[in-house]
Amino acid sequence: MMVDYQALLANAKTARERAYTPYSRFKVGAAVLTASGQIFHGCNIENAAYPVCLCAERSALAAAWSAGEIEFIALAVVADTPGPVAPCGMCRQFMFELAPDLPVLLANLAEQTQHTTPRELLPSGFASESLNHNR
Ligand code: THU
Repeated sequence: MMVDYQALLANAKTARERAYTPYSRFKVGAAVLTASGQIFHGCNIENAAYPVCLCAERSALAAAWSAGEIEFIALAVVADTPGPVAPCGMCRQFMFELAPDLPVLLANLAEQTQHTTPRELLPSGFASESLNHNR
């Protein structure tokens, strides 16, 4: 499937506007294209108990997965950062589990971009094979 990254980034920007960030004031948006051609949005959703905060990347992938859309084609993430946004470690692990080779577009509002994958973002990532080893 041909990926319109400009459109996916535009969706991520729209999702970013919906972020709930009373604590950090740092809004992040994500959009994931699935095999059926649908786009699912994600935004960060914070919490007064700070560690409970949900990131945009996990929000988007969970929205798609919950709708039964488990085959991902591409993911775009955007924030108001000096360069392309860097996903947190928890999101790197989360993406690595569900789609290690998913094309990921990291961007900022000025549309500086970086194309990468969860595998590249999380070298030597912990995977299910690691658990199975002791069975
Ligand atoms: N955040 C994301 O949603 N994605 C990222 O890639 C980086 C961090 C959120 C978590 C928190 O709500 C805020 O940004 C500041 O860390």
